[in-house]
Amino acid sequence: MKVLCLTCISDMKVAMVGTIWWLLACLVFTTASPDLQQRLQDLDTFVQNLMKCQSRPVVGLTVSVVKDGQTIFSKGYGQRDLQTGQAVDNRTLFCVGSISKSFTSALLASILAEREDVSWDTVLTDILGPSFRFRDQFRTKEATLRDLLAHKTGLENLVFAVRMGQNIDRAELGRRMQYYRQVFPLRTLFYYNNPVYTLAGHVAEKVAGKPYETLLRERVLRPLGMNDTVYMAEALKDGNFSNFAQSYRTYNLTGPSKAFSREEFRVLDLHLPAGGVVSNALDMARYMKFHLSGGRDAAGRAVVSEGTLRQTHTADFLMPDGFTMDKVEPDWPVEVAMTQGYGMGWWIGTYRGYRRVQHSGSVEGFSSLLSLFPGVSGGVFTSANGPSSPEVNRDVHQVIHSQVGDILIGKHHWLNATTACTYPEPWWTRPEPNSTVLPEISYNFPRDKRDYEGVYGNYAGGNVTISLNKTDDKLYFSLGLIGRGLVLPTESADCILLRCQGPLAYFPYIVTDVEEKDGKIFSFSLQISPPEPPIVFEQGLKLTDPDPTEPKWGDCTGVSGSPRGATWNNVIMILLFFASISYLI
Ligand SMILES: *[C@@H]1O[C@H](CO)[C@@H](O)[C@H](O)[C@H]1NC(C)=O
Ligand SMILES: *[C@@H]1O[C@H](CO)[C@@H](O)[C@H](O)[C@H]1NC(C)=O
Ligand SMILES: *[C@@H]1O[C@H](CO)[C@@H](O)[C@H](O)[C@H]1NC(C)=O
Ligand SMILES: *[C@@H]1O[C@H](CO)[C@@H](O)[C@H](O)[C@H]1NC(C)=O
Ligand SMILES: *[C@@H]1O[C@H](CO)[C@@H](O)[C@H](O)[C@H]1NC(C)=O
Ligand SMILES: *[C@@H]1O[C@H](CO)[C@@H](O)[C@H](O)[C@H]1NC(C)=O
Ligand SMILES: *[C@@H]1O[C@H](CO)[C@@H](O)[C@H](O)[C@H]1NC(C)=O
Ligand SMILES: *[C@@H]1O[C@H](CO)[C@@H](O)[C@H](O)[C@H]1NC(C)=O
Repeated sequence: MKVLCLTCISDMKVAMVGTIWWLLACLVFTTASPDLQQRLQDLDTFVQNLMKCQSRPVVGLTVSVVKDGQTIFSKGYGQRDLQTGQAVDNRTLFCVGSISKSFTSALLASILAEREDVSWDTVLTDILGPSFRFRDQFRTKEATLRDLLAHKTGLENLVFAVRMGQNIDRAELGRRMQYYRQVFPLRTLFYYNNPVYTLAGHVAEKVAGKPYETLLRERVLRPLGMNDTVYMAEALKDGNFSNFAQSYRTYNLTGPSKAFSREEFRVLDLHLPAGGVVSNALDMARYMKFHLSGGRDAAGRAVVSEGTLRQTHTADFLMPDGFTMDKVEPDWPVEVAMTQGYGMGWWIGTYRGYRRVQHSGSVEGFSSLLSLFPGVSGGVFTSANGPSSPEVNRDVHQVIHSQVGDILIGKHHWLNATTACTYPEPWWTRPEPNSTVLPEISYNFPRDKRDYEGVYGNYAGGNVTISLNKTDDKLYFSLGLIGRGLVLPTESADCILLRCQGPLAYFPYIVTDVEEKDGKIFSFSLQISPPEPPIVFEQGLKLTDPDPTEPKWGDCTGVSGSPRGATWNNVIMILLFFASISYLI
């Protein structure tokens, strides 16, 4: 009937009816997608509720959202310091951890764009000189800047050396790279590596002839007006923590939060290019706009060449399934987070069909996430000051980034106030981490304590010093800048435990194999978790000795399927162990 009616009315009437239909369609569209302002107000309420989730306490949180070159949302929640009760605002400083890796790739993009003689694919020895080498000839001849930035080197992470700090500069770290062992052959598997990013920072120093600290400030921070952004080491040196968030940890989500010691951050002095940038919501909004505008500042001036910067946003390497623990099976209500590969300092993936360029950061209680949605010229940054515990902080960020992602791409939310707190349930239950079962601590060492005393060296990691304290008759160890504590005997003669005191007192027991040679103690092997080989420290090793150490596995620790049945004390160790390996990701 309607069709018939329409055909018999005049042309003018057709036009009018068309307009009405068009208006109706608009009306339907607006009701389906409330205007941006309303959605941002709802986001504020949503985050306030999220801060109250019983199962997932958050001390303080900062959020910024950008769209089409504007900062459309920038706000702090909760407390920046539990003791003083001061509130987080949009200028409160948080350590962004591994998001710093994208600053390193952006800095290198800015340098490379000006040079004819170096590119992402220049072999490292062409930049660092013929004295630079890896342990094997093939890597030395082949490895490029891109291999470093895309985590393709397959080298070990040297976890304990990073966590306990090394009193060396980046040039010395570059020299020691020849002692880093292979976990996977070059370019065969994605293997996330922190020291290698610090080396990439050193490459910038060599190419541009200035310290990384100066280069990043001159070429990225200052041009972008990121005037509040600082480096952890500077804040420590100046004792200037004005509007700086204190970070926290917990082992028990309903229990108390403990403050991280500032001393722990000293290890980020060396590793600034991998994780030491400290920023706030307003500055990180400037940073997101820079990336979304193809490397321009707020006035539209090119800071970094668009083409060179875009390469850092391009997947260069596929990642093994589940690396980021995103659940990719189709039991989510929407196609959610997919991380498909790694660019240079960025995870590359999709969110509900839209391209997403992202990086997380996790360091000493701080957890952060930055997501860019280039297709809709939008981005979101969040950072929290804890309390850190395995996995839990990651969820807060995932939930907010999903919510903001929906707003930016103009879709309905799939999370609500209830599921925001239970996420990733009801869709997915995170598997319990595998446990490391500790050998029982015993009362006595199998031999005279003085036999253990000495300096045990590792070419890449430095020295472990073991000494007997004559006053309390206990054995102590020290390693790096902040690693120190007790040496404890176990029921197994060839196994001891290292128990940290001081700033790392919360750290899990370090299981250590003791190797004897000719009746004397020859080496200690600090166990990490596979595929990372243990770090072996040898008695009296001189840095001029030939390097005979090959990766090997000790046998004084067992890995079981689940922490169930373990004592609570053991469970704490398991959680801690998990937290310790997910450092600077
Ligand atoms: C930052 O927070 C202040 C209040 O602390 C607010 O007035 C200001 O609008 C915020 N800035 C942005 C860009 O949202
Ligand atoms: C940053 O500092 C510079 C130099 O003092 C100043 O010109 C610029 O306006 C500042 N930028 C912002 C965003 O505050
Ligand atoms: C601390 O640093 C901030 C920013 O870097 C600076 O504005 C402030 O003056 C400094 N305060 C002190 C006490 O040094
Ligand atoms: C967690 O801490 C709370 C409060 O301190 C305590 O009541 C509870 O027993 C603790 N839970 C575990 C599993 O230790
Ligand atoms: C929240 O979402 C879940 C899962 O989609 C649904 O089962 C639940 O009814 C929703 N709750 C409210 C209050 O809408
Ligand atoms: C736990 O151990 C099992 C068996 O060794 C292994 O297949 C699984 O990948 C491990 N899970 C994690 C989270 O490491
Ligand atoms: C380790 O100690 C020895 C002295 O036993 C010293 O010669 C060497 O330089 C030290 N190595 C490092 C990496 O500090
Ligand atoms: C030895 O232990 C005693 C008691 O714990 C302590 O006071 C002293 O400082 C220690 N000495 C050294 C050299 O570490």
